[in-house]
Amino acid sequence: MYFVARRHRLIPLIELLLAAITISTLVYLIYRHSCESFLMAKHHYDVYDEELSHRELLVDNIVAFGTADSAHLPSHAATLHREYQIPQTKVNYLSEFRNLDKCPVSSEDVAAIGEAAPCYHKNTLLESLSSGGRIGLDSPYHSKSCGMWWYGTHELCNVLAKYSKVMFVGDDVLEDIFGGMMLLIREDAMYGAVRQWHYNSIEDMKCSCETAFRNHGLCESALVRSLKELTDYDITLLKCPRAGVQMQMHYLPRYPLDPVEVNRFVMAATKDSDFDRRPIAVIYGHGHGSLFDKGATASWISTLRDMIHNAIPYDVPIYELFVTPGATGPQVSGFNTLTLGLKASQVFESAMRDWGRDVQMDVLGTWNATVQTSFSADGLHGGVQTNLLKAMMVLNWLDLVNNGSG
Ligand SMILES: *[C@@H]1O[C@H](CO)[C@@H](O)[C@H](O)[C@H]1NC(C)=O
Repeated sequence: MYFVARRHRLIPLIELLLAAITISTLVYLIYRHSCESFLMAKHHYDVYDEELSHRELLVDNIVAFGTADSAHLPSHAATLHREYQIPQTKVNYLSEFRNLDKCPVSSEDVAAIGEAAPCYHKNTLLESLSSGGRIGLDSPYHSKSCGMWWYGTHELCNVLAKYSKVMFVGDDVLEDIFGGMMLLIREDAMYGAVRQWHYNSIEDMKCSCETAFRNHGLCESALVRSLKELTDYDITLLKCPRAGVQMQMHYLPRYPLDPVEVNRFVMAATKDSDFDRRPIAVIYGHGHGSLFDKGATASWISTLRDMIHNAIPYDVPIYELFVTPGATGPQVSGFNTLTLGLKASQVFESAMRDWGRDVQMDVLGTWNATVQTSFSADGLHGGVQTNLLKAMMVLNWLDLVNNGSG
């Protein structure tokens, strides 16, 4: 009797349990479905499926952290990491780049990645990057608070695909950052920044690896100035040919601006923006050309800014970033020390950051990231490592400033 009574009590309990399981399965299915459609909408431009190596590594990390479900969405690794605030693990993200034997470089030497949860707001990112630094000459850079994300090539392509154009406009310093970006996109440590198929002389052949970045006198004409140059020559040079982004470097170092050059730049920036409505990013770099005169550089930027804003359809978002020239080295000496020396570069950066706050222009300070690096002869050009770092900083900004939420 006793036994039967217990059975009677057990049956409703089992029914209750079954009902609970059914409901939770339903909730889970609905949740998963809504997640997927959300991510698909958000990453409308994720079109790649090549170059899996780095990404697989990231996916492994996600799985290791117990969120196996997110492994369905590997191309959103960076976003997911940011959401979960999981730092990256230590690894050389350049290990599969070409020509590492001739031009050894490792992301671990460039920056300490994965020490802190990644930044997920554009403003905290800029603050953390601008105030980070190094412990010791040429040692890896550390962001100050939240972490810098290191984008593998696949992720990098997804970031760029969010834009119709990423325009670089400025001086030698910015040209080198563009070079760093090309190196990442080509996964080629030796020739990433140059048109090695277009060398004109024996001298030109020196323009690779560090020299491409450090010796502008020699290598200016060998530098890659747009993604189009690469695709026109050989589409396989590019790791993400389908990103559908135009990237160009416009060399406009002088102040006052040359109207002809400005015009060429504005034409290039506005081209196709009537039908490709993805946002446009403009990266400005200036300082040496105005002898660190805040007013002059500010008006250099404002002139370009106004022209772009007037020329681009009003509903195409424009994201703009000014990258400061960073610290100048001890090689700046004599007559130039007062205007272009270490102290002057610091004062200039601080003034430009204040200006940025006033006019609502994002500013990435690079003084603290470059002060403890060895400089090239003119105190202007960092080498491969410094420019990979700056390129990666710009990529972090490009990702966060345009996060799809408008
Ligand atoms: C960079 O470092 C200097 C001195 O070490 C400091 O005064 C300055 O505020 C720092 N810059 C930023 C953006 O934090």
